Amino acid sequence: MSEMLLKNFYYGNEINDPDALMFWPRQALGQELSDEQLNRIQSNVTQFFSTKLGGNFGGSITAGDATVIAAIMEMVRPVEMIEIGVAAGFSSAFILAYAAVSGLVKDRTYLHSIDLNVELKPGQLVGNYVRENYPALLPFWDFNTRQTSATMLDKTFDIKLHGDGPVVAFVDGGHEHPWPLIDIIYLYHKLPRGSWVVMQDVQMMERWIADMVVLNFPIPPSQRGVNYVASHWPGTKKLGFKMAYNSAAICLDIPEWQFRGFIEECCRYPFETDFDRQDLLKRYSSGAR
Ligand SMILES: C[S@@+](CC[C@H](N)C(=O)[O-])C[C@H]1O[C@@H](n2cnc3c(N)ncnc32)[C@H](O)[C@@H]1O
Repeated sequence: MSEMLLKNFYYGNEINDPDALMFWPRQALGQELSDEQLNRIQSNVTQFFSTKLGGNFGGSITAGDATVIAAIMEMVRPVEMIEIGVAAGFSSAFILAYAAVSGLVKDRTYLHSIDLNVELKPGQLVGNYVRENYPALLPFWDFNTRQTSATMLDKTFDIKLHGDGPVVAFVDGGHEHPWPLIDIIYLYHKLPRGSWVVMQDVQMMERWIADMVVLNFPIPPSQRGVNYVASHWPGTKKLGFKMAYNSAAICLDIPEWQFRGFIEECCRYPFETDFDRQDLLKRYSSGAR
């Protein structure tokens, strides 16, 4: 039944269909990437997603999402990356493994990751997928729990970048509005102008509807926070489609006055969670910091 209902839908993990897997990187970034880079994306995403290792959870990136991350990494060639939202650590492992095979990793930290939580569920530590399955990548990983973009905007904690080259960020933390907006406020002020950010779950509801068709479960209350940010982003952006429908990449290339207006526009949407840091939104939309 679910197969019939989803027959016109790419879930994102159809790695046996290489044309579908590579449709987004070729169509969206084909002009920017060489054949060598496109081939590397195809072979490494296919390999990573065909390797069955234990300890992941159900909400991690799909192969289609991974092609977006890899394609942006290939286009920018970042010297380091930031990740917000780790869960089991599946996307962290993908980023670190992809950086290693594409010659981006040097003898120092490559990926700086943060997560709100210490445990994914009782007894399962956040980030354990990397620790258990990719221990050789651990020296290149700076992983921090109990942190959010709010703690980093407050400066009670901050990521220490090497700061000697381009940085790409991957955002997959709190999806309820306004958390993705807070993430972008942090990254806009942290990263050099023109940096790229890959946003995960831009079509969260589409994915959940597909999930619930498969599982025959009711759809959870909506979380459209990522969608509001990507849809309203007034700068350069690339939205996903087909297998990569649930990702978007935005370039932090807008001036401060426009960024403040963007915050104000996003704040017109109803918040999807109890959010007690209105002060941050006020501070960064007014410019009086
Ligand atoms: C969807 S999961 C991340 C999945 C992971 N990126 C992957 O693809 O393998 C979201 C994670 O974000 C964390 N999280 C939730 N709200 C957060 C916030 N406001 N800031 C940082 N992390 C948050 C959760 O604890 C959870 O581990």
